Amino acid sequence: MSAQQPQAIYLEDYRPPAWLVTHTELNFELEEEQTLVRARLNIKANPEVSGKPEPLQLHGDDGMELLRLSIDNQVLEPQDYRREAGMLTINNVPDQFVLECVTRLLPHENTALEGLYKSDGMFCTQCEAEGFRRITFFPDRPDVMSIFRTTLTADKSQYPVLLSNGNPVASGDAEEGRHWVTWEDPWPKPAYLFALVAGDLALLEDSFTTCSGREVALRIYAEHKDLDKLEYAMTSLKNAMRWDEEVYGREYDLDIFMIVAVDFFNMGAMENKGLNIFNTSCVLAHPKTTTDGGFQRVEGVVAHEYFHNWSGNRVTCRDWFQLSLKEGFTVFRDAEFSADMNSRTVKRIEDVSLLRTAQFAEDAGPMAHPVRPESFIEISNFYTLTVYEKGAEVVRMLHNLLGPELFRKGSDLYFERHDGQAVTTDDFVAAMEAVSGRDLSQFRRWYSQAGTPRLNVTDRWDADAGEYRLTVKQSCPPSPGQEHKQPYHLPLAYGLLDEAGRELRSGVLEVREEEEAFVFSGLESRPVPSLLRAFSAPVKLEYDYSDEQLLMLLRHDTDGFNRWDAGQRVCVRLMQNLIRDWQNGQALQLPATLVEAWKQLLQDEALDPAMLAQCLRLPSEALLAELADEVDVVAIHEVREFLRTSLAQALEQQWLAAYQRCDTRDESYSPDAASIGRRSLKNLALGYLMATGAEPWLELARQQFEQSDNMTDQQAALALVAHSRHRESAAELLQQFYLQWQHESLVMNQWLAVQASDPTEGALERVQALSEHPVFDARNPNKLRSLVGAFCGQNPMHFHSEDGSGYAWLADWVLRLDKQNPQVAARLLTPLTRWKRYDKVRSALMQKQLQRMMDTDDLSADVYEVVSKSLV
Ligand code: ARG
Ligand code: ZN
Repeated sequence: MSAQQPQAIYLEDYRPPAWLVTHTELNFELEEEQTLVRARLNIKANPEVSGKPEPLQLHGDDGMELLRLSIDNQVLEPQDYRREAGMLTINNVPDQFVLECVTRLLPHENTALEGLYKSDGMFCTQCEAEGFRRITFFPDRPDVMSIFRTTLTADKSQYPVLLSNGNPVASGDAEEGRHWVTWEDPWPKPAYLFALVAGDLALLEDSFTTCSGREVALRIYAEHKDLDKLEYAMTSLKNAMRWDEEVYGREYDLDIFMIVAVDFFNMGAMENKGLNIFNTSCVLAHPKTTTDGGFQRVEGVVAHEYFHNWSGNRVTCRDWFQLSLKEGFTVFRDAEFSADMNSRTVKRIEDVSLLRTAQFAEDAGPMAHPVRPESFIEISNFYTLTVYEKGAEVVRMLHNLLGPELFRKGSDLYFERHDGQAVTTDDFVAAMEAVSGRDLSQFRRWYSQAGTPRLNVTDRWDADAGEYRLTVKQSCPPSPGQEHKQPYHLPLAYGLLDEAGRELRSGVLEVREEEEAFVFSGLESRPVPSLLRAFSAPVKLEYDYSDEQLLMLLRHDTDGFNRWDAGQRVCVRLMQNLIRDWQNGQALQLPATLVEAWKQLLQDEALDPAMLAQCLRLPSEALLAELADEVDVVAIHEVREFLRTSLAQALEQQWLAAYQRCDTRDESYSPDAASIGRRSLKNLALGYLMATGAEPWLELARQQFEQSDNMTDQQAALALVAHSRHRESAAELLQQFYLQWQHESLVMNQWLAVQASDPTEGALERVQALSEHPVFDARNPNKLRSLVGAFCGQNPMHFHSEDGSGYAWLADWVLRLDKQNPQVAARLLTPLTRWKRYDKVRSALMQKQLQRMMDTDDLSADVYEVVSKSLV
């Protein structure tokens, strides 16, 4: 451990900035061996901060080389300022002045991918959250907003394209084959939204006419080899721009909107003003190389980053504790957009599945934090499922409580009140309060309390009075630093059905108390409740359903989400029983009721294939792990495999019929919701057919692998064969796939991930060998996620091997990457943080690896924070 431990910072310590930067002029001399940055900042004392003037403090990474510093043309000598702990301090500055500074950067050596770095030969930046301080000295906090003017100079033949935020205002040639372009962004913005790109890039161009008739040039840039993969992103962008006008009344505000695809990127994408920078995995799409899931991700992320132009850029965050102000709201917006573009129910099922497995696990673990965290050591660790996904659920609850019209009024007021400002989640809620006249003070607890609330519902039927009473009790388990929780205010959407499945009542109950009863009168018989429809609040709902009631809801509920959920509840309960049987050494048995129910579903030709595929997918091992008191990795895996195989064999004819019904071989590929639904049912059916173990289905899968014209079908077949007991076929197909796609970096990510998640014997040796393979590159985060991330997150049987070898392998990686890219290192480490959830043997082995990291000198703040909090 380092002598000086990284320190936490606290929300309660927030103070407005003492100094503002009205204008920022940046000059980049981009060269192969170095980049010189000349910055000219117009600084003035913040008129809203009274008292005696404070010293000027600018953020600046300790490793950044400072060549020259002046104030109003007076050069400062080293004794005139102080540099320590990431800060540059200058005492006795005037009230208003121009600060100039020259820094020298080494982008080609920047492996952390924060600040200015190189990705496949092009220069690019990532400044959120605190990357700008690696470029120059600046008050790098989101409540300091400045107007930027940026000039880039670089070799003209190597870097013909020079981009930054806003509009290009001047350009010209310079000496020695160099050229320059000046960009001006008229909108004041925090430094985290600054961006530049320089490279030899291909361009797809289009345009969009806004609702007020302005013409916006749309430009998507990528490496030349990827020019044929930009069309879908362009279509998605135009759809998103139209949607934001129609649904939120938000018009774009510059003459150009640009997206650039880069292969080296720590996260998904970044909403820099007018110049979004994307991980190639979130923008490139082509039927031959991209799966349906990939297409949908592109559509969603393009929309997400575009929507940030209002929810994030025009109105930004006061400080990083407010991150969910922009992320939660923007995830909600992109989810609604995707729901409108595709199937609303399927989108909801996918999002809730992610929330229930990964976010609920985070909320129950050592890194649990409120949607608005109270403190952090390294903000990069708080780009979490809680801030993003739970944050979006909190906004969704406001939507559910207020209804769509008032919600829209509230969002209009929020944008109008705070345009050009840096604000808080409280300001967002206050706008919703103002338009609705409602008191949302209790609701605000969703922002300040961590943990997943439990709703326990019981009911009573009074036949004589025709009265039905639902009693709702809520509680929330303790989380780090929060022993006791106050009750939440939440919308509980419901329906009441009769035994035959006819809907009698529906509506939204508002729950506020720890225990509360709701009475329905005028009913003729005891209803079956459909509770928490469309997952109206991010809670764990407990109600003692009988299997018959759940099967009735699965068939008849008018709420599509709850139909699916009823089926999942039946499966989860059954699997939990089987896990107990397995642990007690009893033979596992497949109940006839489940087979019968699934048979009916499979024969119901009226059912939408997408919905059917969702209903017939067994709950994941990750979900069962999250639900367990103590995770029994082996029992969970064995039970799920048993159930899969048994359902495969019992319904073999039905699976084949479903496969044939959805055979899309004669259609040309289209990523629309209906086609995606057919492919998902077809490939699910193929999976069950393969699970029977019968030879003909291996042949069918091999045929599909060879004959399909799209990556969705090819990759599905590959994964099924690669994970099967047919080892020879597995090796053949993997080799064939490699030869076919070795020059497509994103496809090779899939190839790595398929192998890393292969549950058959020898998995660790395989991933170890792959880490030496030429397509693997340990500096590329996508490659790390595909190999290390997939093995540790999607191959539980081997990651949790009882000899601890999986844990040691991950810890080796984290320690190696910590020197190179701390953000990615800290993120990969997540599976080890769950050590308390496992049996004695495993949890001791996991803890040992965490301790080993803790005992390492000079850990990054990122890894230090996750490890130290996990060991508490
Ligand atoms: N604001 C970006 C998004 O929502 C996330 C970027 C965060 N990047 C980072 N390195 N912390 O899409
Ligand atoms: Zn975002």
